[in-house]
Amino acid sequence: MIHRAVAALILAAGVAAASELRPSRDFLSPELRALQDDPSRHPGWLWVEDGEALWQRGERSCQSCHGGIGSMAGVATRYPAVAPDGALLNLEGRIERCRTQQQNEAPFGTESDALLSLTAAIAQSSRGLPMRVATDGPAASFIEQGRRFYETRQGQLNLACGQCHDENAGRRLRGDVISNGLGTGYPAYRLEWNTLGSLHRRLRACSLGVRATQFPLGSPEYLALELFLASRAAGLPVEAPGLRR
Ligand code: HEC
Ligand code: HEC
Repeated sequence: MIHRAVAALILAAGVAAASELRPSRDFLSPELRALQDDPSRHPGWLWVEDGEALWQRGERSCQSCHGGIGSMAGVATRYPAVAPDGALLNLEGRIERCRTQQQNEAPFGTESDALLSLTAAIAQSSRGLPMRVATDGPAASFIEQGRRFYETRQGQLNLACGQCHDENAGRRLRGDVISNGLGTGYPAYRLEWNTLGSLHRRLRACSLGVRATQFPLGSPEYLALELFLASRAAGLPVEAPGLRR
């Protein structure tokens, strides 16, 4: 069944130029788009509020060094980024560094409520701002790695990311409208998950969809891919927290 749906898509494929990339919200149903825009009805805002509370909690709080959460405006548009020690950090990784190195606490852990909440609160303070990750210097080789991942056919279905997210964007697949596969809405509240989840969790779902290897949350493979996706999204707005089917 899956094979037939996918085969039909591939037959219908045309090639989309990078300039045609559209914000993820453009592919949402009018209902979901309205929910995404309305904090009072968007369940993801519960995490944003928790994150803002966490930001201020404790003696050595995030706030004690950084000031109010508003000081994080624009930060999410620049992540993933390469740290001075050469490590590629997404927003979650950057937060975990402050958690362990500045607060001297144990890491929150991938997909923990605390980490998702802080990530959502920080990303939310960039909502509407255009993505602009660094692509030169030490970022360049990570982007190349991410691009290779994106362009390589994978899994039993032997599909590259772009065969769905470029060539078939706007078409339906199993009840979804295929978007351009950007990470700008993450962390996102997904109705299917019934909770907020990270971009890497979503990437695992796409890997599973083509019966390819699912890499661990926070793995180097998905980090490089995340940076490549962010570089593709240059100029498009941060939508986090997104709302998805
Ligand atoms: C003791 C001070 C201190 C505390 C506490 C602290 N940070 Fe930081 N944080 C820093 C410093 C210093 C940097 C810049 C590091 C560098 O040069 O890259 C930073 C950088 C960051 C950045 C990246 C900012 C940018 O512009 O790229 C984020 C995001 C961040 N911190 C989040 C947090 C969060 C969330 C917490 C609480 C869980 C926290 N920090 C706690 C000192 C702190
Ligand atoms: C068989 C088609 C298919 C392939 C191949 C595929 N995806 Fe997806 N992907 C989907 C569908 C369907 C969705 C859910 C609808 C949407 O948001 O595009 C999705 C969602 C996403 C999203 C979330 C977008 C959002 O705003 O919520 C990202 C990011 C993504 N894919 C990236 C990738 C990457 C990277 C690859 C390659 C490793 C990939 N996908 C491979 C079909 C595919």
